[in-house]
Amino acid sequence: MGCGDVANFGHAPAINAIAETELVSVYDPDAKRAEDFARRHAIPGWFSDVDAFLSSGLEAVSICSSAGAHLGNVRACAEKRLPILCEKPIATTVEDAESIVRIAGEAEIPFMVGFVYRYSPVATTIREWVRSGLIGNVKSIRLVYIWHLHGRYGPGEDGVWRESPVWIGRMREGGPMIDCGVHLIDLARWWTGSDVSQVCGHGAWLADYRAPDHVYAHLDHENGCHTMVETSFSYGHTAHDPAPQFTYELIGDGGFIRYDRGNWRLEAHDGRTVHTGPSASEKGFWEMYAAWAHAVRTGDTTSLPSGPDALGVSKIAVTATEQAISRRITPPDTRTAPN
Ligand SMILES: NC(=O)c1ccc[n+]([C@@H]2O[C@H](COP(=O)([O-])OP(=O)(O)OC[C@H]3O[C@@H](n4cnc5c(N)ncnc54)[C@H](O)[C@@H]3O)[C@@H](O)[C@H]2O)c1
Repeated sequence: MGCGDVANFGHAPAINAIAETELVSVYDPDAKRAEDFARRHAIPGWFSDVDAFLSSGLEAVSICSSAGAHLGNVRACAEKRLPILCEKPIATTVEDAESIVRIAGEAEIPFMVGFVYRYSPVATTIREWVRSGLIGNVKSIRLVYIWHLHGRYGPGEDGVWRESPVWIGRMREGGPMIDCGVHLIDLARWWTGSDVSQVCGHGAWLADYRAPDHVYAHLDHENGCHTMVETSFSYGHTAHDPAPQFTYELIGDGGFIRYDRGNWRLEAHDGRTVHTGPSASEKGFWEMYAAWAHAVRTGDTTSLPSGPDALGVSKIAVTATEQAISRRITPPDTRTAPN
């Protein structure tokens, strides 16, 4: 459901690529988008009518619509008792996220959230390293994802440069911590196996939306570890070379782990040597679909990112963002200030 960017570059190629899954049909309220998408990915069925789509012989549904549409999509799938893989963030408000978790729970259907970063060989290797004690006890985690969200401005059909609809949409949905930061918050909880008990959010405004477009979240885990998540949609947005940064750093009392998406380099430095991990992207769509297909067939969803996981993560991201907003300092208007 939803024939946009992430369905196009992530979900459809993965579903088509692996042996365990088959893409039967797609739905988008925009019929042209559904048809174009189906042709591009060689999908037999396309629909702009939800009921017709849900009756087209499906075993499970991937929800790839914009975040504000997830609740309605989940409700429609749950009524048909179809297993759901729902893109992150499951919702843009805590209330909608709670409704989604409740609806999926009451329908007793397998429900997975698309925390696709967990499935990259990078993330799974880090988890194994942490669990084996390679760098001792992890005390501090730094997760940085700062970029320009494909560009804040771009030329319209008339050639005039305007603020991009994607950029505006993501900022109105809550900004970078709620949109991208949720992946990183999920990883921190998953790697440490420890939930977050305290949140502190700060932000910066390069653009004047309610949410900050550059956000820092400081998270204290129940086991004493501290995680810092830094996310931005404005980093480099006016630069000729926007030079995005995406890094993981985990600092233990016996060494550290570092991943840099810029060169796909993953290393662990312990007291004796440097260990090298797989060279891979931070996302693992194929691996995620293999795990999802296995869970749907066996009914065992215990190892998947769940609705309650996503609800917990969303609460943290929303809290950090709201704290940043409540702390915003508006500078005095220097144009009217006395000399
Ligand atoms: N995991 C990742 O790497 C990743 C990357 C990008 C986006 N996302 C997430 O995926 C979701 C979609 O993002 P996108 O960038 O593909 O957005 P997009 O705007 O490119 O596509 C959204 C699609 O949903 C359709 N749509 C609108 N209302 C709908 C409804 N009620 N039911 C079904 N479809 C509907 C739109 O017509 C559009 O085709 C968001 O939740 C986003 O945060 C995840």
